[in-house]
Parts: sequence; structure tokens; C-alpha cells
Amino acid sequence: MGANMSDQKSKAAVELQSFKDAELWKGGFLDCDPINPLMWSSYTTNGFVSIYHAIYWAAIKPYMPQAARVLEIGPGHGAWTRALIHGGAAKVIGLDVQAREFNGIDMWLGEDASKLDYYVVEDMTCSMVEDDSIDFFWSGGAFVHMSKYIISEYVASMHKKMRQGAHGFIQYADIDVYNNIVTNKACMIHSVISEVMGPPEGPRLKEAMSQNEHIRSRDVVPEEMRNWEDVSPGRYFFVGQRFMAECLSAAGFEVVDPFFMPSLRDPIIHFRKI
Ligand SMILES: C[S@@+](CC[C@H](N)C(=O)[O-])C[C@H]1O[C@@H](n2cnc3c(N)ncnc32)[C@H](O)[C@@H]1O
Repeated sequence: MGANMSDQKSKAAVELQSFKDAELWKGGFLDCDPINPLMWSSYTTNGFVSIYHAIYWAAIKPYMPQAARVLEIGPGHGAWTRALIHGGAAKVIGLDVQAREFNGIDMWLGEDASKLDYYVVEDMTCSMVEDDSIDFFWSGGAFVHMSKYIISEYVASMHKKMRQGAHGFIQYADIDVYNNIVTNKACMIHSVISEVMGPPEGPRLKEAMSQNEHIRSRDVVPEEMRNWEDVSPGRYFFVGQRFMAECLSAAGFEVVDPFFMPSLRDPIIHFRKI
């Protein structure tokens, strides 16, 4: 292994361990239930269909074969896991840095929990998954929190685990895409209200609203967030569209669409094992 490669591997190991130690999102992260057509989420409302539900219909329903064996990275509380099962998966293999109990995923899945094989990861090899056994790959809301070191290792492993022709989708972060949507006037809820109210109520109200977990801040991400060296657990890594496409292509995938579907804050890349 070259010096550069082993440096990348040790960076990935440090990052993975710091994520575990931080014990983020106890009880399991859950923003929205993708099966529920109109549930509110941090992506705000989308007229008569929630963004999670739209993604479920556009990505999972058409591209996941019936009775599929699915690999999911970062299931958290299981929002997408349940949607995958609801969409017809026979088995979901979920890999997360935190334990099944920590994420409360069985509670969320109920009877469907029998269709989930869950593993706590110690590295990015996906060694618990048989080679060429996966019909569909899914990861929503997890790769946005991983640096390029972790992502590259996962992508190389996923390629071994997926069957030829299998489709996959990864939600990732891109700073330009993110800032483009949050600077859209329609998204600037806090600033508009604080401007309309004026001081002192406006700034106070803005502060109070930013404490409310249902009304998220829509601040522009500062340029320094392009830096990948700070591995604070839970931060967004804006690895960007080009990196994701190059990384998947280098591993041997065909990139079907680097900007799939209307997730205008955190894009989704669609790929296929050829
Ligand atoms: C923001 S939550 C998203 C949960 C779920 N996918 C959803 O969309 O509701 C991110 C999840 O990814 C997990 N995670 C973070 N880094 C990971 C890694 N390197 N490998 C596997 N899971 C990871 C976290 O523990 C957490 O459960």
C-alpha cells in the first residue's frame, strides 16, 4: 500500500471512531417518514407531496427489484429502511456506526424488523455482506456526514457487493447546490420574518425560531466548509458532485445521473454496476 493510500486509510479510521464516540442522534435520527405523502421535514413542504415521498416513488419504486436484497448505509432510526421494505425488499442489510438499540430502529420497524440484518461497522469493507449479492443500494442522509476518505472506501466495497446491473442511490452534499437553494428567497423564512418584524422583536423571534426543530435555519454555508480536514462528527462534508461521480466511476460504476430527482438541497446520485 502506498504512503498516500495508508494516510487516507488512517484518516478514515480516525473519522469513523470519532463518529462512534460522539454518539450523535441517540434514539436514531428521523427527519421524515418517506411512506407518508405529506409529512413535514427539514426540506420543508413540497406542495402536495413531501420530498421524501417523491424520492421514494422516483428512486426506490422503479429501480429496486421486487424481493430485493438491499444494502443500506447509515439507516439511523430506519425511515428509509421501512420504505425499502414497504417497497418490496425481502431483506435490508443495514450498516451503521451506532447499535440497533441506540438507533431505536426495531421500534420504528415493528414486524418489519425481521427483514433487517443490522451490523455495526468497524471499517468500510462491508465484509459482513456476501460478494455479488446485492440487488439495490441505498443511502439517504448519511454520506453527507462522511469525508472523501470514508466515501471512497465504501464505494469500492459496495462495488464488490452489488450484482451486475444493480442500481444504487446515494444522497451527498454539494456546497454550491446547497447555497443555491438556501439563498432562494422562498427559503429564507427566518430572515424574512425578522425583517418584517424589525428590531427588537424580529431578531428575538428569529432566534426563537432557530431553536424550533421544525423551523430550521436556512443560513448560507460559509466557504471554509469546503475544507475536508476538520472531521467534527455530524458536520456536512461538501464533497460535491464531481467527486461523487469520479469516485463511483473509478470504482467501476456507471453514473446514470449525478443529480437525480428534486432534492435541491442535498443531491442524489444514481449509479449502476456495469
Ligand atoms: C443523519 S442520520 C440519517 C439516518 C437515515 N438514513 C435517515 O435518512 O433518516 C446519519 C446516519 O448515518 C450513520 N453514519 C454516520 N457515519 C457512518 C459511517 N461511516 N458508516 C455507517 N453509518 C454512518 C449515523 O450513525 C446515522 O445513523
